[in-house]
Amino acid sequence: MKVERIRVRLPARARSYEILIEEGALVRLGAESALCLDKAARRVALISNRTVFKLYGERAARSLSEAGFEVAHWLMSDGERHKSLKTLERALEFLSEVKLERSDAVVALGGGVVGDLAGFAAAVYMRGVAFVQVPTTLLAQIDASVGGKVAVNTSVGKNLVGAFHQPRAVLIDINTLATLPRRELTSGLCECVKQAAVASRKLFEETVSFLEKQSSEAVSPKQNSFAAGLSQLIAAHVKFKASIVAGDEREDLARMDSRSRRVLNFGHTTAHALEAVTDYRRFRHGEAVGYGLLVACEISKRLGMLAISELESLSRAVCLCGRPPRTDDLDIALIEEALAHDKKRVGGSLKWVLLERIGRARVVDGRDIPPEILRDSLRAVLHKSS
Ligand SMILES: NC(=O)c1ccc[n+]([C@@H]2O[C@H](COP(=O)([O-])OP(=O)(O)OC[C@H]3O[C@@H](n4cnc5c(N)ncnc54)[C@H](O)[C@@H]3O)[C@@H](O)[C@H]2O)c1
Ligand SMILES: [Zn+2]
Repeated sequence: MKVERIRVRLPARARSYEILIEEGALVRLGAESALCLDKAARRVALISNRTVFKLYGERAARSLSEAGFEVAHWLMSDGERHKSLKTLERALEFLSEVKLERSDAVVALGGGVVGDLAGFAAAVYMRGVAFVQVPTTLLAQIDASVGGKVAVNTSVGKNLVGAFHQPRAVLIDINTLATLPRRELTSGLCECVKQAAVASRKLFEETVSFLEKQSSEAVSPKQNSFAAGLSQLIAAHVKFKASIVAGDEREDLARMDSRSRRVLNFGHTTAHALEAVTDYRRFRHGEAVGYGLLVACEISKRLGMLAISELESLSRAVCLCGRPPRTDDLDIALIEEALAHDKKRVGGSLKWVLLERIGRARVVDGRDIPPEILRDSLRAVLHKSS
């Protein structure tokens, strides 16, 4: 299989970096790190969790050692609730115990939780050391590992303490997806639909055609045909995300246009409310995004912005991702309340990403969405089966 190299071109050339996509790329982690890190880098602090390390840790560590790095590893507990300040403190203690120096680096091996936490530790340890992302979930490969947003959750809210800290490189080994649980795959596929919906008709069609194939053939990530289709899809998504990040590295709040980084939050307003009202226990993040993007489409349709046929295409695409947890028992008033308390307000109001058509998003001030349209849209999507 061919190797894909995608460059994230940032305004400061020194911060630009490469994303490498390849089956079996893990064995090249050491060589790739040697290319992108400082010549003086001697030590690498590998951060992962038990689940992922058991599967891929040894291969990653061996590749780094063979390239001449001194490798120390530390495993955080698995799960979103451990993406916390407490875990961050432990990670920082580990970096200092292994005497990581400013010219050394952190390598994050895992899903978005490990990537966000390890990346944030790298951003603040000694005011910033280099880090390399090795994402092992579909969601992290197409989204979380690209773009330099790193964060932890606090009692105040999700991802509210963080930084922009670009990785030196991202290494995507498609083969790691072979061990991904089905729900995690569904979650990543929903994020693919979200990303494609705001990107272009072309990316949307490519995504749907992959989804049709994977659902009709009952193929699994262990099969070759699946891997080949998936790596093409991942490359197309990474290219899109890289282009958005290149044009809006730090998510300029003044920007409302369809190529601003903000459009990547499509579906996330409702998704965060769904996650909050279920105590982050019911949904995988991407599954909540699947529902969230349909709510945003429903609002768009009711505001006269989006054609019904477009809504139907998106609805079908989300269905093809897999079966999400039920929502028909959720109290709509509680979701409205969670939306009213969303911490991501700007100038006192929520900004919704709506859709004019597939490939064209529009940022809309929450005050311009009548409450009955919001309520009816939530009900139409979430209580559909009741
Ligand atoms: N920084 C960003 O721009 C950004 C963007 C999107 C999401 N995120 C963050 O990403 C997180 C969600 O990431 P996620 O969906 O990857 O979840 P996750 O990191 O919790 O991983 C999901 C589960 O899969 C396991 N796993 C990971 N790779 C595996 C593999 N190859 N085989 C078997 N099991 C594997 C993990 O141990 C975990 O149990 C959230 O915290 C979210 O806020 C960040
Ligand atoms: Zn997301």
